Amino acid sequence: MVLEVHTRKHIEERVRAGVLEQGTVELLTEMGLGDRLKREGLVHHGVEFRFRGQGHRIDFQDLVGRSITIYAQQEVVKDLVAARLAAGGQMVFEAQDASVHDVTSASPRIRYRKDGDERELICDFIAGCDGFHGVCRPAIPEKCLTTYDRTYPFAWLGILAQAPPSSKELIYANHELGFALLSMRSPEISRLYIQCDPDEDIANWPDARIWEQMHLRFTTRDGKWKLTEGPVIQKNIAEMRSFVADPMQYGRLFLAGDAAHIVPPTGAKGLNLAATDARVLARGLAEYYAMQNTGILERYSEICLRRCWKVQHFSWWMTSMLHRIPGESAFDRQRQLAELDYVTGSRAASTALAEHYTGLPFTI
Ligand code: PHB
Repeated sequence: MVLEVHTRKHIEERVRAGVLEQGTVELLTEMGLGDRLKREGLVHHGVEFRFRGQGHRIDFQDLVGRSITIYAQQEVVKDLVAARLAAGGQMVFEAQDASVHDVTSASPRIRYRKDGDERELICDFIAGCDGFHGVCRPAIPEKCLTTYDRTYPFAWLGILAQAPPSSKELIYANHELGFALLSMRSPEISRLYIQCDPDEDIANWPDARIWEQMHLRFTTRDGKWKLTEGPVIQKNIAEMRSFVADPMQYGRLFLAGDAAHIVPPTGAKGLNLAATDARVLARGLAEYYAMQNTGILERYSEICLRRCWKVQHFSWWMTSMLHRIPGESAFDRQRQLAELDYVTGSRAASTALAEHYTGLPFTI
């Protein structure tokens, strides 16, 4: 049974991530959710890094024989909700004031309110998929939890624009004025980001100022590359942080996704990491119900955290390599450019990036 605090409309429209690792595409396909994804998803075989005014393509297909697919998170959510309801599953939308109880007992409970009524759900297991600000992680006693936290001294200002993407593939740009990213949602909609201060007020960023910064940060030395503008349909500022809670399990409560860990968006890993948690948990539950085997469930946290820390490292590394770091020294700046030069120039280094970006192999 799924309890969701928001309305169905809200979760099906909210603009979030957009890059699916090949393993996530395979997982959704195995679950029978591959049809629309295959029709509408944009398969990308590479990505561009742009610095010192020049583009350098990392060819995923050539380096690791894998790809990524652009398919908006809210489309994944729509497909998941439709499949769950079609399979006769129950979903309660607008479930308010949820709280979890007795998670170390054999029958943990969830209390919540729906349409003013108090309700209680008696469970075998609880999957805490309620995000960083949810109620599940705080239900674990503080003394049982170690947390690792890092905030970054910059944020991302993101826009969704009614404009055909100016590039077939994503462009990660490191520029003197700060990082910029060109992404997309469809052949008609661009998704673009620029680095800004974390305490920036969005009111200080009229569309014209945003576009001006985009043009400057994506400029190429030969002056040939052109950024296509279009009406801005959505605008937001997102803070950047890395966070891990260890362990991800307490009794019969299993944390998954942002409830357990956050990554900065530079590696496009948040959704994909959440999907691998769900995959491990689903396997654990399947084994438990099929043969009372608790082996995977007992190792849930260990399996997920092992992958999580590798993804944490990758996301931190991409973030550090691509942003202007306030207060960085001239030495730091040159070191950063040398790293980009190495990563895009060395087949060994490009291969490591391609392996991470398209998704590490899934192992239990
Ligand atoms: C996005 O399309 O929203 C996107 C793409 C790549 C990232 C982050 C976000 O690294």
